[in-house]
Amino acid sequence: DAQSVLDNIERQFTISDDTLVEITKGFLAEFEEGLNNYGKDMAMIPTFVTGVPDGTEQGTFLALDLGGTNLRVCEVVLNGDKTFNLTQKKFKVSDTLKQGEASALFNYIAESVDSFMTTHSKTDYTTGRKQGDSVYLGFTFSFPVEQTALDRGKILTWTKGFSAKNAVDHDVVQLLQDAFDRKHMHVKCVALVNDTVGTLLTRAYISGGALIGAIFGTGTNGAYVEDIGSNLAKLKKLDGSPAAAKGGHMVINCEWGAFDNSRTYLPMTPYDNTLDRLSINPKYQTFEKFISGMYLGEIVRHIILSLVDAVPQAILFKGKSTSALNEHYGLDTAFMSAVEAAWIGEDQNAEAFELPPLGAFDDSKLNDKVQPKLQRIKTVIVETLHYKPEDISFQDAAIVRSLCALVANRAAALSGTAVAAVLVQTHRARLPGDTTRELKHQNESVIGVGVDGSLVEHYPAFQDKIRATLRNLVGEDVEKRVDIGLAKDGSGVGAALCALQALKQ
Ligand code: BG6
Ligand code: GLC
Repeated sequence: DAQSVLDNIERQFTISDDTLVEITKGFLAEFEEGLNNYGKDMAMIPTFVTGVPDGTEQGTFLALDLGGTNLRVCEVVLNGDKTFNLTQKKFKVSDTLKQGEASALFNYIAESVDSFMTTHSKTDYTTGRKQGDSVYLGFTFSFPVEQTALDRGKILTWTKGFSAKNAVDHDVVQLLQDAFDRKHMHVKCVALVNDTVGTLLTRAYISGGALIGAIFGTGTNGAYVEDIGSNLAKLKKLDGSPAAAKGGHMVINCEWGAFDNSRTYLPMTPYDNTLDRLSINPKYQTFEKFISGMYLGEIVRHIILSLVDAVPQAILFKGKSTSALNEHYGLDTAFMSAVEAAWIGEDQNAEAFELPPLGAFDDSKLNDKVQPKLQRIKTVIVETLHYKPEDISFQDAAIVRSLCALVANRAAALSGTAVAAVLVQTHRARLPGDTTRELKHQNESVIGVGVDGSLVEHYPAFQDKIRATLRNLVGEDVEKRVDIGLAKDGSGVGAALCALQALKQ
């Protein structure tokens, strides 16, 4: 019956604490594989960033940011006192550009930089100049790139809906530089960073230090400071590289969105399978497809449709659909944030409301706290999915809210496993039952984690949910030391910090 259909969905999307531990162990195994070998799913990319800022850095730089919701061109002024000023212009990247020829995409990027510089023509970018009259630019490129230097690296693969041709295996800095040169622009790209690295550097700049940078946005990924040791014990694949010869620290871009491409650890539901099969990169970015903003709305859309189509009796919306709901990727993750925000309202301590059994849902029994919440959710559904108000019942609203919460809570719990894995990897924590792993840095009072991205910024209490999982995995003592802070616009500032590091070398 209908109730058992809903119960079954709930079961499929709930991950037990034991499974979360096993997933975290899976992360650690894939970390090790990626640190020691090239060509693994989790790429564990050495970034050639060997330290993090402390807030005293100064200078004015151009920064470019491709790979989030928008293309952004920024001017960043680092004031040297942990503060910065950022001016930016956002540009849309159409699907045609994302999926066409790489040269067209990079021409568009160069034009966007040109347009920004024209409107900011009075700016003096002298700090960023090393020689001649070129303006120096840091490039945040939020895709997997096998870096060989701070300003060099080959695109490994596209993610997040991009598939531009003649880009994979090419040097991304060269693709950009060629586009600048074709337009005779005096701009030189001196540093390449992933958005997670930018976020880590920015968090370090504004708070005096940090260990992890993580993105929970269109995609998900993390970077952290690895102690590579003098014998490269932890980074065998760099053996023989001059950059690693002196040992010490190196920021690693995990590319954790590709965790479990082998489908060993994550409990897939039929909805995940459908999403994956219909995506432009089936069998890739498995972890990302459970977590990030590009996909969560799509998972919810598939669940809703299955309930609209349920037999022998529709469970949602009188069995009716709308063109928004039928459209592939027609339900944005922002819908989930809006539903959750409507549910919470101003009443942060609203009493928990269990979904009554379907047969027992009685509108007249809704109390005056719950009824306005469901009314607000109905409004969100009408506005986003273009349903007629009379086609949505309070019960529908309650079911939709619980579906959104299931999918978001699973995403947050899994996000917690990724962060926990880095804490274990860096000897800050142990998993339950482990008494042998050496713990270091126990006097460190704060473990800094910078985060950015639309999900963590807009989905209500996403961070709290990550923390709850973290507490179960690494214990309260460690969790309390973890300071998760939004590093808003982190990537732009991080690119500037990297450009500064490049110029000093
Ligand atoms: C932005 C960063 O703030 O966050 C981008 O500047 C990053 O580089 C982005 O990719 C992630 O969020 P979203 O939601 O735009 O993908
Ligand atoms: C995708 C990209 C990765 C990026 C992340 C967040 O996973 O492959 O490089 O950091 O999205 O934007």
